[in-house]
Amino acid sequence: MLTLSGVCKRYPTGDRALTDIELSLPRGQVMALIGPSGAGKSTLIRCVNRLVEPTSGSIRLDDTELTRLTGRKLRQARRAMGMIFQEYALVDRLSVMENVLSGRLGYVGFWRSFMRRYPEDAVVEAFRLLERVGLAHALDKRADALSGGQRQRVGIARALLQSPRLLLIDEPTASLDPKTSRQIMRLIRELCAERELGAIINIHDVALARQFADRIVGLRGGKIVFDGTPAALSTDILTTIYGEEDWSTDANDDQQADAQRKADDTGQASGPTEPSVATDAPRPAPRLAAGASR
Ligand SMILES: Nc1ncnc2c1ncn2[C@@H]1O[C@H](COP(=O)(O)OP(=O)(O)O)[C@@H](O)[C@H]1O
Ligand SMILES: [Mg+2]
Repeated sequence: MLTLSGVCKRYPTGDRALTDIELSLPRGQVMALIGPSGAGKSTLIRCVNRLVEPTSGSIRLDDTELTRLTGRKLRQARRAMGMIFQEYALVDRLSVMENVLSGRLGYVGFWRSFMRRYPEDAVVEAFRLLERVGLAHALDKRADALSGGQRQRVGIARALLQSPRLLLIDEPTASLDPKTSRQIMRLIRELCAERELGAIINIHDVALARQFADRIVGLRGGKIVFDGTPAALSTDILTTIYGEEDWSTDANDDQQADAQRKADDTGQASGPTEPSVATDAPRPAPRLAAGASR
């Protein structure tokens, strides 16, 4: 269980990015954190793994107070939190397998990783994970030869190789087309259920958040303005989160996404047990984020 209590973040520039955040994430819960650009979504998940230092407040993961950790203990705690990034953060010239294995860098020590020698159990587990995310056939491809959806699958496998208790995911679909976005969200959802992993997913796309999260938290101006089920997220609440003008753009996006979903559902012969394997085209142009005000 992750618990944030009274968390505030003020950047040295004076920007107040988070104000009095109170939030508990039970084990196994998939939470979508929505809100316009600049709302504080990235700051919140970065405070959790201490890429950003919170100005005040408490962040606990199970029995550990994360805000006071330093050195080796901090590195240990970070391993319990798998990060998945919008831009995948892969090493382009390395193979898919090597990128996944880099998820174990914290365990294998500098020299072994420098020599690119990993323990056999890590290699076996990396292969199993690549199979699970539908990339076993591509394990020796260079990362820069992959489509966007495939790159994100590598990022997911890499995060899971550290056997995390929690996933912190920043805009996982922002660079993907709508169909690939849904496949990636479905995969994340399934993996969380299989491994009883909690997840905080920062996401602009309200339709995706509604479809794949157990719970939605809305941030605006660094404050939580909504915390509830996808069903409770009404148009009025969306207006509170995104503001009148921005939200109208987002609603159109939702309609398009719904139309796309219907077209996909009728066009696909796949049964309910079909694994979410990528069949995505080469990297698409980034989607314009709905609700973005910059
Ligand atoms: N490194 C930084 N230095 C100063 N201000 C920052 C920094 N990162 C983010 N901010 C500010 O903090 C606020 C929240 O940003 P961010 O967490 O990136 O929001 P989101 O991820 O929701 O778009 C914004 O006002 C942003 O300008
Ligand atoms: Mg962000």
